[in-house]
Amino acid sequence: QKGGYRHFMLKEIFEQPTVITNCLAGRLDLKNRTVSLPELDALEIPEQIQIVACGTSYHAGLWGQHLLESWAQIPVRVEIASEFRYRNPIFKSEDMILAISQSGETADTLASMRLAKEHGVKVLGLCNVVGSSVAREADTTILTQAGPEISVASTKAMCSQLILLTLLALYWGRRKQTLPANVESSIITGLLDLPQILEAELPLLRSRAQELAPAYSTARSFFYLGRGMSFPLALEGALKLKEISYIHAEGYAAGEMKHGPIALIEPEFPTFALALNDALLPKTVSNLVEVQARNGKVIALCHSGFDLEVDHTWEIPNAQGPLSTFLALPALQLFAYEMAVYLGKDVDQPRNLAKSVTVE
Ligand code: M6R
Repeated sequence: QKGGYRHFMLKEIFEQPTVITNCLAGRLDLKNRTVSLPELDALEIPEQIQIVACGTSYHAGLWGQHLLESWAQIPVRVEIASEFRYRNPIFKSEDMILAISQSGETADTLASMRLAKEHGVKVLGLCNVVGSSVAREADTTILTQAGPEISVASTKAMCSQLILLTLLALYWGRRKQTLPANVESSIITGLLDLPQILEAELPLLRSRAQELAPAYSTARSFFYLGRGMSFPLALEGALKLKEISYIHAEGYAAGEMKHGPIALIEPEFPTFALALNDALLPKTVSNLVEVQARNGKVIALCHSGFDLEVDHTWEIPNAQGPLSTFLALPALQLFAYEMAVYLGKDVDQPRNLAKSVTVE
């Protein structure tokens, strides 16, 4: 069942190249190099999108917000479903609710969807489980096709959600004619190349995670810092670490550190930095310098050319723009995994947690 892997979580992390291939299957028009999402063709392009989700799926939504806003120019709000449902949100009929859920059974996500439907707002579901409540109740559902996810810690499902959010932003961007020239065809090329790159890279990522885990296993707290599209990844890295290794971890927008949290920095409170090569890298680097000035240890997940001297660098291959995420995400997942294994934790069945949160 575990296909030779020690844990479902590891198996599912290593399935990500196949997940990407399956997510793309039938959703690309290779001749015209465009995205094809026929289930959306009959729908109006939403004026605004409200994403509702929980946990890892919420982090996927925060990431997708960047692409939907920059490529499709659709204003997007993202909210934790358990907050949204009790907030008396303002609904407009030309808006859309995008409910993201791996299981399709998360109680708060479902309640948020139902609330929106009562107010006459269209619901688009992004969901992995065929026949689940989200898949059945949404007006339109896009299935993420990641295959069954057994491990409580969600890994490959997030990868599939991010691929679909990328496709959605390209699709609406083309329909609205807001996509910068050549973005769609070059991102499609990058997406098609990803499975092969990731397949080769995953064993290397795992080895690096195995090297780093013993060096950081005595830490009781971690910061995960990122900016822009790396901020949701920082949140996700921290969630994975706390969920399976029981080490306290906080994901923070790097620029917020000086507004309070930096007071916590000391040698035993390391920082895992998302220092990928994007327009915000110089800002992230200056935040890391401030951490180092307080004797904080730093692991930097970075691309070649990263030139800040830190305790440990973790270099990943370059990918096109936002597609670097698909190499950074498994690095975060594998770091949490190897920390938990090193500490002897029950990776697939972490304490106090269930795979689907079907009650409030
Ligand atoms: O099935 P869903 O995507 O709706 O689940 C949402 C969260 O419960 C889930 O992502 C949870 O945070 C994971 N255990 C994280 O690894």
